[in-house]
Amino acid sequence: MKKALMSKKYFYVTTPIYYVNDLPHIGHAYTTIAADVLARFKRMDGFETFFLTGTDEHGSKVEQTAQKNNEQPIELANRVVQRFQNLWKKLLITHDDFIRTTEERHKKVVTHMIKTVLDQGDIYLGNYEDWYCTPCETFWTKTQLDNKGRCPECHREVQKLKEESYFFKMSKYEAPLIDYINKNPHFIEPESRRNEILSFIKEGLRDLSISRTTVTWGVPMPQTDKTNFPHIVYIWFDALLNYVSGLGYFDNKDRFQKFWPEAIHLIGKDILRHHTIYWPTFLMALGLPLPKKIFAHGWWTHEGEKMSKSKGNFIEPEALIDEYGVDPLRYFVLREIPFGSDGDFSNSALIGRINSDLADDYGNLLNRTITMTLKYQEGKVLKPSSITPIDQELVEKYTSMRISYKKNMDDIAFHKALTALWEAIRFTNKYIDSNEPWKLSKDESKKERLNDVLGFTLEAIRIASVLISPFMPQTAGKALSALGIQGFSCGTAKEKGIDALCGFWENQKEFKVQKTDPLFKKYEISL
Ligand code: MSP
Repeated sequence: MKKALMSKKYFYVTTPIYYVNDLPHIGHAYTTIAADVLARFKRMDGFETFFLTGTDEHGSKVEQTAQKNNEQPIELANRVVQRFQNLWKKLLITHDDFIRTTEERHKKVVTHMIKTVLDQGDIYLGNYEDWYCTPCETFWTKTQLDNKGRCPECHREVQKLKEESYFFKMSKYEAPLIDYINKNPHFIEPESRRNEILSFIKEGLRDLSISRTTVTWGVPMPQTDKTNFPHIVYIWFDALLNYVSGLGYFDNKDRFQKFWPEAIHLIGKDILRHHTIYWPTFLMALGLPLPKKIFAHGWWTHEGEKMSKSKGNFIEPEALIDEYGVDPLRYFVLREIPFGSDGDFSNSALIGRINSDLADDYGNLLNRTITMTLKYQEGKVLKPSSITPIDQELVEKYTSMRISYKKNMDDIAFHKALTALWEAIRFTNKYIDSNEPWKLSKDESKKERLNDVLGFTLEAIRIASVLISPFMPQTAGKALSALGIQGFSCGTAKEKGIDALCGFWENQKEFKVQKTDPLFKKYEISL
């Protein structure tokens, strides 16, 4: 028992918490699918895993949207939270907790943390006079604005702010932060983002305004006797603290101790600065260790255009799921573009992937093998008693694929992990073509070889399906039950770890296959 506890491995993954002034779209789904795939992969690899997502419900943006709708901010939040939670169900997201910044467990942490930093003298009262972008909830100096005097991030109008504000002494942490980033080369990824942030910090960090007097919807700043105004904690400080409040900083200390600072924060590139400058310097001020990694992914455009409300071209994940199914969507977004790069979404690209990778390569491999096993072997195949060089080649292909898959998953290079997996799947199709089971079936003296060829193929499909399961849990479950393996899930597999699960004939003694419907439907590309 003691030994098992000592050897436990922990993994903590988060998504950004999403603003509730807008309905969920493909950008939100993208990060959440990625976090889910990582969580499922790590659970399957024997890690005790905690996966957190949630909603960012305070701030001027939510306040203003609620006002426009003639409702209270909390009513707006309650309504939109439902939409997020329903979408996560539909997308088969397996988060362990969902944090809302309006919950007591969160607000308590925010008040406590701000007070700690205030008491230690890292927060002071001053006056803010610069620009604010409400859609990004971000402060800018005049020199940072774009050439039209707009937000350098989203290029929308900014407002001049002149108000009393508390400031966090971020400048004090400039040198320690540079030092930390230099000593931890994988702290910010991809590398290009790390370089971008390093050069930004080196231009000099200014102290950061961390309260607003013109916003009322948020966590109140602890009162000091220096001010007569009620201040509200700046939304980004409120929001970033979800990563510790949702883990249980106050209400689940055991969990917090286990998982902090194992965190991997998955974010979009637009919120890089908040996560790689504000968050680590604030943690430094609090004396808490920094998260393990912050990985910024790229942005999706739609048929070449930026998605926006005014263009009405937001991709709604629900509609895609209804049309193409949840697994193909999960596969597509992570296969189509490297996780750190921008990419374009089009129905034709999605259909292309479904028809070729999913239906032709994987679906067809399963289908033809099941059909042959039923036809030639009455559905039953025994563990082969010998191994020929061509079988050995297949085994080696899968061993090297497994190594590459695991490394790329750990590097958050989903497209590379999937490329390696699909090379092995295509190789398996070739293995069948070269061994021609249909010919072996006609020769009574080749009965044993026929068993073995189908056996190696089924074992290859089993392994491929196990490794596919974090990406396409429903499909993998269907494929594995067709092979006679019922109730497989990344969660139930965790005791074994991936290497043991994916060794040829390590656990598998035989297969009893069942007829199954094709895993994927093919689509016509309409031009
Ligand atoms: N509330 C903040 C995050 C606080 S985390 C402590 C926020 N919320 S958001 O709802 O506006 O955005 C959440 C995420 O969606 C961001 O990571 C952003 O990059 C992502 N996306 C929004 N549009 C996107 C695309 N078109 N493509 C990919 N991701 C995009 O920011």
